[in-house]
Amino acid sequence: MKAARGRKSGEQSKFEIEYAAALREYAMGGGEAVLGQAYELGRRAIAERKSLLELVSLYHQILRGLFESSPDRSSQEHLVSAGADFLSECVSPYEMAQRGFQDAVKALRQLNETLEEEIKRIAYSVHDQAGQLLVAVHLGLANLAQELPEARRQQIHEIEELLNEVEKQLRRYSHELRPTILDDLGWIPAVRFLAEGVSKRANLPIHIEAKISGRLPGTIETTLYRVVQEALNNAVKHAKAKNVWIRAWLKDQVLHCSIRDDGAGFDAQAAQAARGRKGLGLIAMRERLSAIGGTLWIESSQKHGTELLIKLPMEDNHVNSSSAS
Ligand SMILES: Nc1ncnc2c1ncn2[C@@H]1O[C@H](COP(=O)(O)OP(=O)(O)OP(=O)(O)O)[C@@H](O)[C@H]1O
Ligand SMILES: [Mg+2]
Repeated sequence: MKAARGRKSGEQSKFEIEYAAALREYAMGGGEAVLGQAYELGRRAIAERKSLLELVSLYHQILRGLFESSPDRSSQEHLVSAGADFLSECVSPYEMAQRGFQDAVKALRQLNETLEEEIKRIAYSVHDQAGQLLVAVHLGLANLAQELPEARRQQIHEIEELLNEVEKQLRRYSHELRPTILDDLGWIPAVRFLAEGVSKRANLPIHIEAKISGRLPGTIETTLYRVVQEALNNAVKHAKAKNVWIRAWLKDQVLHCSIRDDGAGFDAQAAQAARGRKGLGLIAMRERLSAIGGTLWIESSQKHGTELLIKLPMEDNHVNSSSAS
């Protein structure tokens, strides 16, 4: 086992000493009370961030020592069976933590789905209700124009032009908020649509290369779209980049998606640390991805800008590689 920092190899930690003593005591007929201690040791191991593998290897190491010093075959058999009970008791907190983690992931997934429904609702109301209000304003202006002399009508016309622009922008935003293309054609066409809008608004070239075809389950496509959307927001808002590159490809049944900019870069570790954290974007990206079994890796420097790399294992054959981009 790895020696902890500050200890020489071979030197036992307090935890290891207590673990060995409890296992020895249980093997010598320690009973229920020692099993309770095994459970507590398992909880402490989690709190001290020991991996399950570390704990099991400690168990084996101690058991081997006890086995070698057992006087006869019958006491060795007793040791193996008592050891198994002890081990299952001290790993049970890991099992409970794992279940808790699965429940949390499930809750997170449900939360994201609810959030997505809410976004859909907002997108539709911006599109439909604001659209209808603007139609009413247009009608009102047209009526007003009829009552005005020719010279003033020109002013009304200018207001109408501005309103048309507002309407265009609102439609664009509501589509980007929840693009129908996402449901109809998938996340890559939706990302292209989004990138086109962002690129125009921010005057930022966005290069897309997607070597993936086929559809993925809706939750996964929505998550990928949201993560790319936030990455683009950040590239515009913080990076002052001259270019953004979005690439997606499949390798060894793992979907990869990289969003890279050539902007200012930042200290990714500090930005994500609880104390230094300013916004929610990066953390939300990670949580969204973790709810679907994906990971996010960030590399950033002043010299090279920022790259976000998403990795998402595809257990089922949901996607195909294709040379079409
Ligand atoms: N592409 C990037 N280039 C430079 N800095 C970045 C980039 N992405 C993130 N950052 C830095 O990391 C910080 C955290 O980003 P995050 O998206 O979590 O929050 P935010 O964008 O500040 O706020 P929010 O996303 O909640 O609106 C940012 O404030 C910014 O300093
Ligand atoms: Mg952000």
